[in-house]
Amino acid sequence: MTAAAPAFRVAELRRRSRRPALAPAPPGTVSLAMGEPDHPTPPPVVAAAVAALRGGATHYADQKGLPELRAALAAGLPARPGRPWTADDVVVTHGATAALAAVVAATVGPGDRVVIPEPAYSLYADLVVLAGGTVDFVPLAPDLHWDLDALAAALPGAAMVIFSNPSNPTGIVHRRQELETLGALLDGSGTLVVSDEAYHRLAHPGHTPVPALAVPSLRDRTVYVQTFSKTYAMTGWRVGYLAGPRAVVDAAAQVHRTGNGSLNTAVQHGALAALELPDRVVDAMADTYRQRRDLAVAHLSGVPGLHLVPPEGAFYGFLRYGTGVPSEAVARALAEQKVLVRAGAEYGPSGEGHLRISFATAEDDLWTGLERLVRYFRSARR
Ligand SMILES: Cc1ncc(COP(=O)(O)O)c(C=O)c1O
Repeated sequence: MTAAAPAFRVAELRRRSRRPALAPAPPGTVSLAMGEPDHPTPPPVVAAAVAALRGGATHYADQKGLPELRAALAAGLPARPGRPWTADDVVVTHGATAALAAVVAATVGPGDRVVIPEPAYSLYADLVVLAGGTVDFVPLAPDLHWDLDALAAALPGAAMVIFSNPSNPTGIVHRRQELETLGALLDGSGTLVVSDEAYHRLAHPGHTPVPALAVPSLRDRTVYVQTFSKTYAMTGWRVGYLAGPRAVVDAAAQVHRTGNGSLNTAVQHGALAALELPDRVVDAMADTYRQRRDLAVAHLSGVPGLHLVPPEGAFYGFLRYGTGVPSEAVARALAEQKVLVRAGAEYGPSGEGHLRISFATAEDDLWTGLERLVRYFRSARR
């Protein structure tokens, strides 16, 4: 090994990861690739952070997060009968990314198997690879909900199962019955559940997500991961948090403070202000994603060879195409046609033959991008 060679696990990550390095779209290109709200952060959040800075909030914060922010977050968790959540059950992190990284590093090691229903948010598998664990991908059912029989076969002996709900990349909202069955399948096991609910406020009518912490059979084994990024259009602020069994939370807090230190103090004051926003502020943003979802479903339905399971939440559509061309090659060809999308293969083996389209983009751009995409597939079929 030379001094400049990456560590073994980094080399392994480079070999296995399908996550692309992301760059801004070149001029003239429309991006349907980013999982990032196009709305500005609500002004009261910005004002609170500025006021905090002016007021002297320029020093280190508590390493687990501002106590008042943690207390407010604990108060927002689903009730836990007999053991109310407290500030000590919550760790504020550098986005959900650092929450996920901390919990995986804190609980997964060599020899540990982690079940990931896939296609799944691609960060999960990469974190397991970095931690030296083994990824056990379990394909979803054709309707993109969990294949519970396949999960029943895979779960025994697993150290962890990890998923997002609503799901990135599929746009599916897993139902209460799916969560309850997962809880029943895990009964008596030591398997930890990591429920990443980054899109919990972005669900389409009739698909209200059930938090895993509200399911009695999951409550005591679930680490809940949340972020301000999507709900409040705060991706650049980098605020997330986790809550769950105290021993896991404490271990994750130790990993987080070792790798990250405390979170920017003023940013946490912004997060406190976000929690005070009236519901209608978030609802108004969610409405725009819903309208764009409807636009995309209408635009893509009836196009020969394309199939979109109508998204139930988040701001993604997972589009199946039938040309047989690998999704990374399709994404490259579409980039040449000036529309950026994400290759389905990024999200796991069953993602091949799919593209992920983000609706978190202005309606005109969405329309232009979909036109270009449909034109590509029409000419590919000729
Ligand atoms: C499911 C899911 N979890 C976590 C994240 C990361 O969120 P954050 O910006 O808080 O790191 C994303 C971002 O795309 C996501 O889609």
